[in-house]
Order: sequence, then C-alpha cells, then structure tokens
Amino acid sequence: MRAESRISFCERIASIPGCAHGETESRSLQPLPDVTRKRALLAAIGVALLALPAEAASAPSFSADVVPILQKNCLGCHSSAAKMGGLVMEKFDLLMKGGAHGPPIIPGKSGESRLVLMLEGKVQPRMPFGTDPLPEADIAIIKEWIDAGGLGRSAGDAGSRPLLQANDSNFASHLHKGDG
Ligand code: HEC
Repeated sequence: MRAESRISFCERIASIPGCAHGETESRSLQPLPDVTRKRALLAAIGVALLALPAEAASAPSFSADVVPILQKNCLGCHSSAAKMGGLVMEKFDLLMKGGAHGPPIIPGKSGESRLVLMLEGKVQPRMPFGTDPLPEADIAIIKEWIDAGGLGRSAGDAGSRPLLQANDSNFASHLHKGDG
C-alpha cells in the first residue's frame, strides 16, 4: 500500500522534517505560530483603524468636495456670463437662489432637489447638459452634502443662518481658483 510505503520511507529517512509517521496531520491542527498570530492581530487593528475615519467622517465639505465638482462640470454654462437656465453658480447664494425654476437645492432633501434630479436624469434635460452624466461618486457627494442639511454653514456658525451669506467669498474664490 502507498501509505505504508511512505511511512517506511520516512522511517528510513527520519531526518526529513514532517516525514515521521503522523506528524503531517498533527501539524495542521497546531495553533498558529506566535509571529503569525501577532501579524494577524496587527492586520485586524489596521483594518479597524482604516474603517474608523470612514465611519466618523462628517458630511462632505462644500468648499472641499462640492465646489470642485461644480467648477469642473457646471460652471462653464452656469457662470454669470452664460447663465443657462437662469442659474449662476459663481456664488453660493446665487446657486441657492437658482434659476428659472427657483431654488435647485432643498437643504436636507436631496431627493427633492432639482439639481440632483437633473444630475440623475429624473428631471430633463439631464445635467451636465449634453455630456456624460457625472460619476456616481460625484452625485453621491452632492446628495450627502445636501442631506446633511448644513450646506455651506461653517463650523463656527451658531445655526441662525442655514447657508453661507452672499458676502461669504469662499465659494467664488474657490470657483475661480485655477480657472485661468
Ligand atoms: C453645456 C452647458 C451646461 C452644463 C455644462 C451644465 N448645464 Fe445646467 N443647464 C444648462 C441649460 C441649457 C439649462 C436650462 C435647461 C432647460 O431648462 O431646458 C440648465 C439648467 C440647469 C438647472 C435648472 C435651472 C432652472 O432653474 O431651470 C440646474 C439645477 C442645472 N442646470 C444644474 C447643473 C449642474 C449641477 C451642472 C453640472 C454638473 C450643470 N447644470 C451643467 C446647461 C448646462
């Protein structure tokens, strides 16, 4: 028989590690070597740490996350010069005021915000007009930002005003940054 011949082979050459009778089986049942366990633990901690910021992450920032998307994809047609649909995005208050159809953003309600509905093609024409839809991730950022409800409100704001004021130049300066 095969097994027997192997054992006898092992018995003959006993110096081969793992070759002795039964050793192969018992070996696989042994607990992981200490180093391996430590590595596994460290890996688990690493994964946990990586997951933390994602969970604790606050809503997308208007200036850091939303403005770049608008700047790249929308401003060409929604500048004060082009003003398509009557909508100008150069300033936060102008964006919130909206165009021919009124405010395109309802704080806390992305599902009712015309801007989102147009990005998703649920209201026609789809935006950005005449080109590919925004990547899902970009639309998600805008929706999260709207649903968070704070919109442009700065951290130090007491909450009396829901949005950035007209004279809050953050928006415009961000829009024109690197715009040439
Ligand atoms: C190529 C030009 C173009 C680009 C780029 C563009 N739009 Fe528009 N947008 C238009 C036109 C034209 C209208 C008017 C559509 C209509 O009412 O028939 C419009 C209308 C809108 C409206 C509705 C305004 C209103 O009150 O009627 C919203 C909201 C809007 N766009 C958002 C965006 C967003 C967000 C982006 C970028 C992701 C974007 N648009 C990019 C041309 C553009």
